[in-house]
Amino acid sequence: MERLQKVIANNGYSSRRKAEELISKGRVKVNGEVVNTLGFKVSEDDIIEVEGNILKTLTTYEYYILNKPREVICSVSDDKKRKCVVDYIKTEARIYPIGRLDYDTTGLIILTNDGLLANILMHPHYKIKKTYIAKINGILTEDDFKKLRKNVMIDNRKVIIDNFKVKKIDKIKNTSLVEVTIHEGRNHIVRRLFETLHYDVLKLTRSKYAFLDLGHLKSGEYRPLSKEEVKALYNLK
Ligand code: URA
Repeated sequence: MERLQKVIANNGYSSRRKAEELISKGRVKVNGEVVNTLGFKVSEDDIIEVEGNILKTLTTYEYYILNKPREVICSVSDDKKRKCVVDYIKTEARIYPIGRLDYDTTGLIILTNDGLLANILMHPHYKIKKTYIAKINGILTEDDFKKLRKNVMIDNRKVIIDNFKVKKIDKIKNTSLVEVTIHEGRNHIVRRLFETLHYDVLKLTRSKYAFLDLGHLKSGEYRPLSKEEVKALYNLK
């Protein structure tokens, strides 16, 4: 932990005296809250804003996408000793997943230690689109298509479906692969969407997150995001 005025000065934003003045005048926020106490201590995970500018802290940020396997939890630790998404990534940084995929859902998950980006991507206001491929136990009817086009209600709230496409039908096994793009983050939303239409989701994978896709990443593989990709994620704001 470091004193706020020291972090601002070390960052090159201003002298320590000027930093103290800015703090006293209420021009500094830590994690979105004004802090006007001199000597307030911050850690490298805190987001510091001086006169509306976000300071780069001493943390070096890391960003990855992982193709999450089944039976892995989207968390940093688990008291039941189940495998966690962070276990796949070799780093010393305290990264965490942005949002969640169910234990049984596979596919694209972003991990980072950049709280600011995580907040942006999870904020409902920015309506980040995510595409899922669901294997369901049945074949969608004309009536289901109409419902999907009109948007389905779950807990008295519409699920806005940005796009959907039937990718494959297996008439013998009576199953289909349906691609759905949505931009909301309610828990189990895709499974609940199909449940509402009276289908079970047998398999679920997230194939896209905004402009990112899995590319050649196999199950359990990951890669760092490029600077351009990180910038483009920030620009979704
Ligand atoms: N919707 C679900 O039902 N499960 C997921 O893991 C993600 C979206």
